[in-house]
Amino acid sequence: MRYNFDEQHDRSNNQSIKFEFVKDLYGSDDVLPMWVADMDFKTAEPIIDALRDRLEQGIYGYTALNDAYYNSFVNWVSKRHDWQVKKEWLTYSPGVVPSLIFAVKALTEVGDKIIIQSPVYGPFKSSIENHGRILVNNPLIYQDGEYQMDFEDLEKKIDEGAKALILCNPHNPVGKVWAREDLEKLAEIVVRKDILLISDEIHSDLILKGHKHVPIASLSPEIACRTVTCMAPSKTFNLAGLQSSIVITCDEKIREKINNSFEIMDMKINNCFGQVAFEAAYTHGEEWLDQLLDYVEGNIDFVVDYIGKNIPEIKVKKPDGTYLLWFDCRALNMDHDALKTFMAEKAKVGMTSGDFFGQEGQGFMRYNVATTRENVKKGIYQIEAAIKEMR
Ligand SMILES: Cc1ncc(COP(=O)(O)O)c(C=O)c1O
Repeated sequence: MRYNFDEQHDRSNNQSIKFEFVKDLYGSDDVLPMWVADMDFKTAEPIIDALRDRLEQGIYGYTALNDAYYNSFVNWVSKRHDWQVKKEWLTYSPGVVPSLIFAVKALTEVGDKIIIQSPVYGPFKSSIENHGRILVNNPLIYQDGEYQMDFEDLEKKIDEGAKALILCNPHNPVGKVWAREDLEKLAEIVVRKDILLISDEIHSDLILKGHKHVPIASLSPEIACRTVTCMAPSKTFNLAGLQSSIVITCDEKIREKINNSFEIMDMKINNCFGQVAFEAAYTHGEEWLDQLLDYVEGNIDFVVDYIGKNIPEIKVKKPDGTYLLWFDCRALNMDHDALKTFMAEKAKVGMTSGDFFGQEGQGFMRYNVATTRENVKKGIYQIEAAIKEMR
């Protein structure tokens, strides 16, 4: 079937963070919400059908995760990412951020140093610091609009005692799908220095043409046995409200510790709708996803092209993946607070502030294009008009 991503949906009755929090975050209700990473699109029809069937059963007692649930994931990652995982390697988790926290708590000690690569998704920092571990930053290198890992600095930070690294692949907010060579280099260091790798791959199915996601644990048995991979259908299929994700660990001892950490918090039981949506997404979601990616890429191309031609104060590079655009607004010559106020109050566009991703995000804003082309254009025109008025 053909999906129509141009259709506007009313989310006012959707209890959606993206819309409900606009006034609190941006000071007024008439700000266009282009921030939190979910989509304004309806999910795939087979997922809605599966949920409807389950809903109509009318019985929502305790549920168990069955083979079909795990097999749907095993088949999906084999097909989409050439990664052969075994059912026994999988642990249910309600979300990727909870998985990061459980991995940190289960596999490191209070006082351990853990590395992140800023600018990066804000909860990486809190999942370390809120649990008594020490944050160590190995910032990405930003040159000519391109981000790269700083391997030399990484080795230095490990030599100074860091025990683990949380990787973001694809990388939110910079939209980088790390290339096989980058990951091989990283894996070589992780194995040689014998540290733990926690790999957040929540964006792994949102890959634009010409790029390929490589699960780092798929590179070799040596890196696999030191890696905890976190994946989910939530970003890909707009299911974040259903709380269903997966942790993949091939090392038995690591897995036991992870499983135990979920168990002692009584977090083993799954929401019945999350389970149904997860399985339907990974079994029947491909047709929808391929069409979604075409549409999202069209949105991205529009923004990159339009800004390139009309708004020289903002630099934006086409990402390799995700539906998030990383605007370098430093040429506007505002301090970060002034930039946030300008975008909210003058442009009336609610973006995620760059400093949510660490201090390297100062002067940057993240624009979410997982919405209709009409909204995507509206936001860009509003930003352009506000900047024009200021020129
Ligand atoms: C890199 C990354 N990890 C995790 C999450 C959130 O995951 P969850 O809602 O499953 O906790 C996000 C959401 O934007 C993200 O970008």
